Amino acid sequence: EVLQQQVSTCRQCKLCETRTQTVFGKGNRASRLLLIGEAPGAEEDRQGLPFVGKAGQLLDNMLQAIGMDLESCYIANVLKCRPPGNRNPAPDEVLACSDYLQAQIAMIKPDVILALGRFAAHSLLQSEEAIGSLRRRQHDYQGIPLHVTFHPAYLLRSPNEKAKAWQDLLAVKKTLQA
Ligand code: URA
Repeated sequence: EVLQQQVSTCRQCKLCETRTQTVFGKGNRASRLLLIGEAPGAEEDRQGLPFVGKAGQLLDNMLQAIGMDLESCYIANVLKCRPPGNRNPAPDEVLACSDYLQAQIAMIKPDVILALGRFAAHSLLQSEEAIGSLRRRQHDYQGIPLHVTFHPAYLLRSPNEKAKAWQDLLAVKKTLQA
């Protein structure tokens, strides 16, 4: 709660000038699985909660297909504020927000992290590698197994990639069961 309060008044980058409110995270803080997305969109900025739009619905459906759901996981974004017009996060914004995400990871202590999309994967792994090659293996984030998959908003635009994302979720499930 203390961290969430700190984030809600953050003015470390210029996104504080255009946000409606910060979007800290939601779900089960005792979850073994932590999902990390990119940044709030318009609906998330309005409601103050991550993944409340169509991308979140798709993600929930996909999680349910492996016997989980969004409610039982914890989900947060790399950026806590919406970039205007949903533009890509800028490097200085990612940097300004990175301590918050690190603190969230340290508090939740997940057994597995799933990075959703390029921005989450690149900022957590400090890598520039294409998502297509990052997603097929297990990575390590400070001792925590990390998997990479496509962002659900991308899957909405490219539904033929859903089968690959399904494989990624099965790999996550396997790691959780290991
Ligand atoms: N996309 C994200 O990456 N995060 C959200 O919270 C919503 C859409």
